[in-house]
Amino acid sequence: MMTIDDDYVNKKHNETEQLALVDLTKLMNGLNMGTLSAFLYLIFVTHLFAINGGDAATPSQPPQQMLATGGFQSDRLQQAYKVIQAFKKKVTYDPKNITKTWVGKNICRDYKGFVCDIVPDLNKTTVAGVNFNGNRFNGPSLTLTELILGLRDLAFFHANSNNFTGTIPKNISQIRYLMELDLSNNNFSGRFPYEILHAKKLVFLDFRFNTFLGVVPPQVFLLQLDLLFINNNNFRQRISKYLGFTPALFLTLANNKFVGEIPRSIGRAANTLQEVLFLNNKLSGCMPYELGLLKKSTVLDVGFNNLTGPIPHSFQCLRKMELLNLARNRFYNEIPEAVCSLPGLTNFTASYNYFTQVGPQCRKLIKSGVLNVNRNCILGLPNQRSQADCARFFANLPTCRRAKSMHYVPCSNGNSGNQLETSDLETTPAPAPAPLGRSYGALTPH
Ligand SMILES: *[C@@H]1O[C@H](CO)[C@@H](O)[C@H](O)[C@H]1NC(C)=O
Ligand SMILES: *[C@@H]1O[C@H](CO)[C@@H](O)[C@H](O)[C@H]1NC(C)=O
Ligand SMILES: *[C@@H]1O[C@H](CO)[C@@H](O)[C@H](O)[C@H]1NC(C)=O
Ligand SMILES: *[C@@H]1O[C@H](CO)[C@@H](O)[C@H](O)[C@H]1NC(C)=O
Ligand SMILES: *[C@@H]1O[C@H](CO)[C@@H](O)[C@H](O)[C@H]1NC(C)=O
Ligand SMILES: *[C@@H]1O[C@H](CO)[C@@H](O)[C@H](O)[C@H]1NC(C)=O
Ligand SMILES: *[C@@H]1O[C@H](CO)[C@@H](O)[C@H](O)[C@H]1NC(C)=O
Repeated sequence: MMTIDDDYVNKKHNETEQLALVDLTKLMNGLNMGTLSAFLYLIFVTHLFAINGGDAATPSQPPQQMLATGGFQSDRLQQAYKVIQAFKKKVTYDPKNITKTWVGKNICRDYKGFVCDIVPDLNKTTVAGVNFNGNRFNGPSLTLTELILGLRDLAFFHANSNNFTGTIPKNISQIRYLMELDLSNNNFSGRFPYEILHAKKLVFLDFRFNTFLGVVPPQVFLLQLDLLFINNNNFRQRISKYLGFTPALFLTLANNKFVGEIPRSIGRAANTLQEVLFLNNKLSGCMPYELGLLKKSTVLDVGFNNLTGPIPHSFQCLRKMELLNLARNRFYNEIPEAVCSLPGLTNFTASYNYFTQVGPQCRKLIKSGVLNVNRNCILGLPNQRSQADCARFFANLPTCRRAKSMHYVPCSNGNSGNQLETSDLETTPAPAPAPLGRSYGALTPH
């Protein structure tokens, strides 16, 4: 098992809560407002309050209404009370004493971990969000079912670093506003929870750091997600050919056991994908030139795999690229000068491959510490592989199935090699820019 350098993964570390801000940023910029109801907007404002430690406003109800609902602000909260109290009994380990606050009838004011808002179709105060991040809850059968299905108005359920187990309930689709589900760093195992495919409103799906096995259903890539984190599980399969159909801005497949080639469909994500981590799997073959279509991407990490071939010339079209990691594969040939000339590159790691040449522009980057070419086969540079090592590799040079495509430059004028029509790709609106390196935060469990 390969371990990833702590500094590397911690460098851009963000709390899971902050990752949720991806959506917020978008909302605040008004990009999605057309499709989201005012309710969701409110929820996310409340959510922003909650994750910033502020007090979410608790709408007050007239007293006569309180009598009709047993002293609760609404019948929704009356129902939520029962659900929460039943769940409380199941939590036998609560090192932060969160459940001790779950007493009395004022859920919205007193209960840690629950966020209230008004549900618009009913005009009633309800539990709109759950934030159990870092609570470390445990219990003999800490399942989600009763809680998630009982709180029917949830827009988000965040439970990073607890010991939830079991399955995801099938009728999760009946949670009609559920937009964010974070079950990262819990005790889920077995097959991928197909049930989640029914939650059509999801925009944020985070299953990283569990022990899910087997295959990721291709339909996941058809969900209208902004963020998909499935790193650090035990997925073992060829990556679905539907990968590129995902509208996600942030995609982490790192630290699993994915095999085979990176699907060519990745090019379909050209207008949306900002960061993608394939880091530390068992991917093989050559990189598809379609990776070069990712003109919005700032982070591309294919490090620690078994990929080979040259760097596709299309990579010179990655105009927004900042962090490019190709380390620890079996890439060869020259590092294209046009790639070293990309305007935003701040970290280009090409170490532990079999590259043989770097031109003046690349040498500049080596000098300034942006490009790392240690442990390659470049004559005259320090810290290279031994001649014998290089000779052994080149005596049995792996070739690419679509060798010609390695020369396509889809961003240059008059090129016929680009098989994806720009008109096909220009259908979705441009997402708001997100800060760099967010997805690396997903590589630590908390
Ligand atoms: C939780 O409560 C127990 C017993 O009342 C106390 O010993 C412990 O320090 C509390 N822990 C926290 C984190 O407040
Ligand atoms: C929602 O209910 C409150 C009282 O609880 C009322 O003042 C308000 O007008 C209602 N809003 C709508 C849109 O029905
Ligand atoms: C989900 O399904 C179970 C049984 O299949 C049912 O008891 C429950 O009421 C359903 N929950 C919701 C929210 O529809
Ligand atoms: C879950 O429980 C196991 C065993 O008690 C423990 O080692 C692990 O740290 C727990 N996970 C979390 C996130 O608290
Ligand atoms: C984790 O889940 C397994 C079943 O999948 C269970 O046997 C184990 O006790 C759970 N561990 C914790 C700490 O809850
Ligand atoms: C990498 O691929 C080569 C050629 O396909 C194969 O011989 C080698 O065993 C692979 N290495 C690993 C670690 O999978
Ligand atoms: C550049 O990225 C690599 C991995 O992609 C990391 O190991 C290295 O520390 C980074 N270098 C700098 C200067 O940030």
